[in-house]
Amino acid sequence: MTDDVLVMDHVVVTDHGGVRTIRMNRPEKKNALTRAMYDGITRALRESDSDDAIRCVIIAGAPGAFCAGNDIGDFLNASEGGLDPRGHSFLKTLAACQKPMVAAVGGLAVGVGVTMLFHCDHVIAAANATFTTPFVKLGLIPEAASTLLAPMRMGYARAFSLLIMGRPLSAAEAKDAGIVNTVVDAAQVDGVALQAAQEIAALPRGGVAVARRLMRGHLEAVNRQIDAESSHFKDLLGSEEARSAFKAFLARKK
Ligand code: COA
Repeated sequence: MTDDVLVMDHVVVTDHGGVRTIRMNRPEKKNALTRAMYDGITRALRESDSDDAIRCVIIAGAPGAFCAGNDIGDFLNASEGGLDPRGHSFLKTLAACQKPMVAAVGGLAVGVGVTMLFHCDHVIAAANATFTTPFVKLGLIPEAASTLLAPMRMGYARAFSLLIMGRPLSAAEAKDAGIVNTVVDAAQVDGVALQAAQEIAALPRGGVAVARRLMRGHLEAVNRQIDAESSHFKDLLGSEEARSAFKAFLARKK
């Protein structure tokens, strides 16, 4: 069986045996997401919805870095020029994706790199992966309907510590909190994620689709939450607190 490969701006999409892998591929920036990357992932997710041959999607990153969140330079630009709609489209598309999604978290996950996991159906993480959402420390608020989904998934106390206090979770803690299914050695993450995706792809298509839709029966509430979060997020992006946090990150010395 040959693979179909599509390479976009820092996103590589590979189709093989009913499984589509969408790989964020900007390792030199720890996979911080640019607007073009949001666009590429959104396209790849939408196509998977309309392609019957695709039965499961893997969202993967680079070794050591699943995703460092939104590009902070883009946040700073947005604080001056207005929020680009591509991040918002990505979140809506992710929430509504009809194909089961497996995440292969090979290393650090920050910001949207964590909150996108609440929309995935099965998550494999490297033992050394970390999960951090520093939104509030950056003068922002959490997004991707995480203010709804995190308390549902992990309970209010753990969600507050992660989302509001910005305390990191280790892979073991993320598993304990119900965000991660399986923790493996970093070198095994992609292989174990592929196995899980192939297992899902081999199940009866209709049963998976219907049961999954019933299990995730709150799409309207999720969409409302994404919109509500976005409207506060937009306001906060332009705040002096957020702008100085972005500038401090971009000017930091290593
Ligand atoms: N936006 C823009 N650039 C980012 C980035 C982001 N979110 N995350 C990492 N990078 C860049 C760094 O600026 C650095 O670029 P440089 O080599 O040109 O200086 C490169 O990626 C490597 O990052 P570095 O900080 O050297 O790696 P690290 O392993 O020491 O730390 C992180 C990794 C992810 C912990 C750290 O980069 C970080 O805190 N990033 C910001 C995460 C964030 O706040 N995201 C927004 C969430 S809402």
